[in-house]
Amino acid sequence: MTDTEFPSIIASGGDLSAFLSVNKQAVDAALNSAGALLFRGFEVPDPIAFDAAVNGYGEQGFTYEDSLSNAVRTNVTQRVFTANEAPPTTEIFLHHEMAQTPLYPSKLFFYCEIAAAAGGATPLCRSDWVFERLQAEAPEFAARCEAEGVRYTNVMPGDDDAGSGQGRSWRSTLSAKTPDAAEARLQDLGYSWEWLEDGSLRATTPALPAVRVLDGGARTFFNQLIAAFRGWSDSRNDPNKAVTFGDGTPITAENMAPAIRIADELTHDLAWRAGDVALIDNFLVMHGRRPFEGRRRVLASLIA
Ligand code: FE2
Repeated sequence: MTDTEFPSIIASGGDLSAFLSVNKQAVDAALNSAGALLFRGFEVPDPIAFDAAVNGYGEQGFTYEDSLSNAVRTNVTQRVFTANEAPPTTEIFLHHEMAQTPLYPSKLFFYCEIAAAAGGATPLCRSDWVFERLQAEAPEFAARCEAEGVRYTNVMPGDDDAGSGQGRSWRSTLSAKTPDAAEARLQDLGYSWEWLEDGSLRATTPALPAVRVLDGGARTFFNQLIAAFRGWSDSRNDPNKAVTFGDGTPITAENMAPAIRIADELTHDLAWRAGDVALIDNFLVMHGRRPFEGRRRVLASLIA
């Protein structure tokens, strides 16, 4: 059923919802070993069929409204939404979904409704392999990430800015109608913050773990350092101020260079075909989005 490629490919036919429901245990075992599965050749013609497939898998969803994600997204069905509204030329660099917040999903489903004419692959990278090499090649940095954790700073606009990969408004991100409500939510989460003159909000997380120990004992580079450092750049955000160690010391380009190089070397691109569905273990595998040309529609659904 599967080969040894990464991601592991499950090529079959028929109804994906029924397949996932009947084969849940085998699918989970395959996911646990590969970190990412691609379901190809099934009948998944539209977002409704994708929603049904996710339901067939049968685990509880993680909703965009409840999340602290920075990305601007639009719901398509109750549990399916657009992956990111950022423009085609914007690369989204490798990350673990929402690891820059205290609330994150355990697994991600992606569905390709329309494959881009050129580009638009989803890069995937085993984060346990990254951390193992980082320990060998940049031991001080790896140890400091593990010991101190990291803090992320993000400036959120007052209203959604779909032109940015980081454009979700503070009102939407924090489910807050007023500045007072936003502050109460940030206080609960242990963030610090500062209001800016244009009505945007600069928020800094408490120190969050940057390395995660999985059930089997493997350690993963579970964070958003690469995405933040390479990509959190827009009219409001400077990547050089986006990430610090837990003690507040800036993480520099020099610090990040080995992690970026190693992750690039270990990355495999998932080149989408329309109808493909991927299932990704968010604790084990990082993902991103390559720039593309033409129309592309990849939808996501998150598992709590
Ligand atoms: Fe993502």
